[in-house]
Amino acid sequence: MDRVTIANTSTSTSERLHQAEMPRFGLGVYLMGEPGECKSSVLHALKQGYRLIDTAMAYGNEDEVGQAIRESGIPREDIFVVTKLRQPHANSHEETLQRCQQSLENLGLDYMDLYLIHAPPKDLNARASVWQGMEECLSNGWTRSIGVSNYGAHHLDAMLSYATVMPSVNQIEINPWLQRPALRAATEGIGAKVMAYSPLARGHKLTDPGISKIAVSLGCTPAQAAIKWCFDAGAITIPKSNKPNRISENLDSLKFDLSGTEEEFAALEESYVSGWDPTSEP
Ligand SMILES: NC(=O)c1ccc[n+]([C@@H]2O[C@H](COP(=O)([O-])OP(=O)(O)OC[C@H]3O[C@@H](n4cnc5c(N)ncnc54)[C@H](OP(=O)(O)O)[C@@H]3O)[C@@H](O)[C@H]2O)c1
Repeated sequence: MDRVTIANTSTSTSERLHQAEMPRFGLGVYLMGEPGECKSSVLHALKQGYRLIDTAMAYGNEDEVGQAIRESGIPREDIFVVTKLRQPHANSHEETLQRCQQSLENLGLDYMDLYLIHAPPKDLNARASVWQGMEECLSNGWTRSIGVSNYGAHHLDAMLSYATVMPSVNQIEINPWLQRPALRAATEGIGAKVMAYSPLARGHKLTDPGISKIAVSLGCTPAQAAIKWCFDAGAITIPKSNKPNRISENLDSLKFDLSGTEEEFAALEESYVSGWDPTSEP
């Protein structure tokens, strides 16, 4: 599995701190709320070779992620676990510490690999203290790395004024229909890696003629073409499926070569947001 080094960069010295190796491909577990659904999906994914799982307290399945990890028999240190502080819980330094502990309890783990603020805190005045809480989670060893999700360029810029370390990752919606070159560049500009959520635009576009034509020319499925486009754009990519055959199909996307299709993918851009878009919040 291809890996990338992530780090929290010191705002005062620009030193890359708390470096961690993160798989560039993984399983997202949003909308796996039926009892046992998340656990069986994660177990199948781990068996197929996935080593990165993206969950969140908001998904209500951190417990099943932890159960699957333990049942898999794979050493904990070989699996990279991402979870997130809910936006309604992102209110203060103290609450951030409490929620991180609660996620660890749900997961049944001693540490998480990456803890993200799910979206910019609604209260602008709380943003600095919430991030300082994240920094304390990091220094306490509760997480190996800290990052953000759904941060726009202006949110990242503002962090330079209050952060001791900058985020290692910005998890944002990226797919062939929402390519976001400026936000990807802004994320890389502060030393963070881009993590692409909803790489399939939640399945909304997979029967469109544009992606279907590209897929036929590559000899892959439309889902595989979309996933590989995100991966080749340099993003850590986390498609969701609860179906064993699709979990395998999505992993297999990594073997396709997209050379020669750049213009066709560029033509798919339509600023399509498949879910929410907090990057544009104040
Ligand atoms: N930070 C955030 O705000 C945020 C927001 C959204 C998502 N995420 C994360 O990103 C992950 C992925 O995003 P997502 O779940 O929104 O959407 P996604 O991965 O873009 O798409 C998932 C949808 O595509 C279907 N699908 C999966 N593989 C397929 C295939 N090979 N062929 C056809 N259809 C396929 C799935 O159905 P089946 O399950 O029935 O296969 C599901 O309906 C989430 O699970 C979550 O971990 C984060």
